[in-house]
Amino acid sequence: MAALFALLSISIFLGAKSATFRVTNNCQYTTWPGMLSNAGVAPLATTGFQLQPGETRAIDVPPSWSGRVWARSLCTSDPTSGRFSCATGDCGSGAIECGGGGAAPPVTLVEFTLNGAGNNDFYDVSLVDGYNIPLVVFPQGGSGPNCVPTGCVAELNEQCPEGLKVVSGRQTVACKSACEAFNDPKYCCSGAYGNPNTCRPTSYSQFFKNACPRAYSYAYDDATSTFTCAAGKAEYLLSFCPSTSSLRQSSENNPQAAGVPLINYTMTFSGNGYSTHYLPSYPFNIFFSLALSWLSTFL
Ligand SMILES: *[C@@H]1O[C@H](CO)[C@@H](O)[C@H](O)[C@H]1NC(C)=O
Repeated sequence: MAALFALLSISIFLGAKSATFRVTNNCQYTTWPGMLSNAGVAPLATTGFQLQPGETRAIDVPPSWSGRVWARSLCTSDPTSGRFSCATGDCGSGAIECGGGGAAPPVTLVEFTLNGAGNNDFYDVSLVDGYNIPLVVFPQGGSGPNCVPTGCVAELNEQCPEGLKVVSGRQTVACKSACEAFNDPKYCCSGAYGNPNTCRPTSYSQFFKNACPRAYSYAYDDATSTFTCAAGKAEYLLSFCPSTSSLRQSSENNPQAAGVPLINYTMTFSGNGYSTHYLPSYPFNIFFSLALSWLSTFL
């Protein structure tokens, strides 16, 4: 019996192929990715590191790993204590490695369950805990009709509804979920609202969904927000601040691929309160650039 079990585990071991995440920072500022394994899943070799603008790091991920990945921004080490902390996505470890700490909201999250039900990798990008930076997952070399990029390309901080903004200095650095901001069961899908029939989209969740149609905008937003690739075949490119110009040209935005497009260009022109004062101190803003290209078609 024990021999049979050993044989079985060896064959499972041989059959399972580890995955690779390529984490790339296209932002014009430094980011510090954080990684947290789900309960009962071993931590990855790294749980946090620094990425300069333009830098990419490949990470080996064991078969059947599940957990979440996010980006921290605006991090500093305290000059006296040496304690490391971040204005967004902080994991509370006081160090670059998160060591089992999760991200403080608001934060844009990538969630993975590799080699889950039906031998599929499941992944999604979630704004249920709010938003800090644009982030897209590009599966590469995978197969399946739902094996397409997902995420949130839009720069939402300046567009963030009043009451949800997180301001640091003069910058809006993140955008809270309505659940975090108002702690109301209706927004949190808790209590009487704790099921998909009673917890419905709200004007706040709709703000996130309009801007980022493939991302989770509230807890029961499953229908358009979960993606799958056949397990063991795909590599995943996680891009922070993905280039919008390359995405516009590509088929990645094709709504047929997933029922909804990756980028909603209609949203561009409903921009509110965009301040040009913001431009020098903050990265390239998608709404601004899209509005410009739209205008230029008339000139
Ligand atoms: C795009 O945004 C507009 C509002 O800005 C919304 O009416 C429309 O439904 C959105 N499209 C998608 C696919 O989410």
